[in-house]
Amino acid sequence: MSEPTKKGLEGTVVAESRTSLVNGQDGKLVYDGYSIETLAENASFEEVAFLLWNERLPNRAELNNLVQVIAYEATLPEGLLAQLKSYPKNADPMAVLRTAVSALAMFDHDSEDNSQEANRRKAIRLTGQITTICAAWDRIRKGNEPIIPRKDLTLAQNFIYMLTGKDPDQTASAAVDTYLVLLAEHGMNASTFATRVTVATGSDMHSGIVSGIGTLKGPSHGGANAEAMHMFLEIGEPENVETWFKKNIKEGDRRIMGIGHRIYKALDPRAAILEQRAEALAKSSGNEKWFQIAKKLADTARADSYFIERKLYPNVDYYSAILLYTINLDVDMFPPLFAMSRVAGWTAHIIEQFANNRLIRPDLNYIGPMGLQWVPVDQR
Ligand SMILES: CC(C)(COP(=O)(O)OP(=O)(O)OC[C@H]1O[C@@H](n2cnc3c(N)ncnc32)[C@H](O)[C@@H]1OP(=O)(O)O)[C@@H](O)C(=O)NCCC(=O)NCCS
Repeated sequence: MSEPTKKGLEGTVVAESRTSLVNGQDGKLVYDGYSIETLAENASFEEVAFLLWNERLPNRAELNNLVQVIAYEATLPEGLLAQLKSYPKNADPMAVLRTAVSALAMFDHDSEDNSQEANRRKAIRLTGQITTICAAWDRIRKGNEPIIPRKDLTLAQNFIYMLTGKDPDQTASAAVDTYLVLLAEHGMNASTFATRVTVATGSDMHSGIVSGIGTLKGPSHGGANAEAMHMFLEIGEPENVETWFKKNIKEGDRRIMGIGHRIYKALDPRAAILEQRAEALAKSSGNEKWFQIAKKLADTARADSYFIERKLYPNVDYYSAILLYTINLDVDMFPPLFAMSRVAGWTAHIIEQFANNRLIRPDLNYIGPMGLQWVPVDQR
């Protein structure tokens, strides 16, 4: 007798992990013992990455060292830069990132070494390099020369510096750092699962990260932040929210992008933090329109019985779209920013998977016919 199929593997536990706890009923998120609220208030992205890779917070010397090593490792090989310059300028940045990380493996002397030491080195290197690829691609496609990362900057500061070529703006760097902290890790999400499936075959970290990027790209996962912003842009003005909601959601069959979650049946705690940060940033920038549209749409959905019954609340992508748009990032760069952060979680999971590995190989229920007679090709 076969097991009933769990569509989308809902409710299936596939690993034991120290990395994070996602409590969807109460809307709680914990990275290795620390609540996301505590980390958002106090931690830098590098502190969070250290925590995920080492299961403890760094001391001052360890943190300073990690910031410097990430910045040092973030420089791209010349051969990869040459490749980036050869890609079509209209390529999707996530497709570029996926291809570039795959190519990076061939420039990395550790790429086929799956030891814990090599995987820790690769985790640091990939974290730096992915940020540089994102910034370099945005410059290359706009006809500008890519910029080499500076050794004296944090990853968030380096990203802004490598995008603009100017001393990093503190407001923009702080917004990116907050975003990186909040998105770094999130249980057995689809892209993390994909990375674990890939490396559980004995494949390598770069292959796992390529799987993760390809999986993150979809609009049901990391592509949702860009889709949410396209939706806010389509709405255009706060006074259009109700008409748009009626036409597209109540009478149409569209979804509100950035709302709903497989696990959270309460408000995503990251969305609560991002709502506050996006509001503050919008006020200080003098352009509150996009925040007002997002807020009004969220309030409209919150008061609607369809959304209430299904427990659909804003997720992390909803207000992060406003945050990233307010610091003038191109909308198609939002998903790569997600990857810049989540690489910390993916690599932590890969290290964990290798430490206690078994091939991940689920089953299916066959629903096809049986016993068919072979018909020669010319008689079909
Ligand atoms: C995230 C998401 C893919 C979760 O999917 P899931 O767990 O498989 O949930 P389902 O697609 O089965 O949705 C459950 C119900 O809620 C509805 N629903 C889910 N998200 C919705 C949304 N954003 N807007 C409107 N309705 C939505 C579905 O239509 C479905 O209704 P039904 O029971 O009448 O069929 C889904 O909520 C979604 O598409 N959200 C928008 C994209 C997004 O923000 N993704 C980022 C996630 S971090």
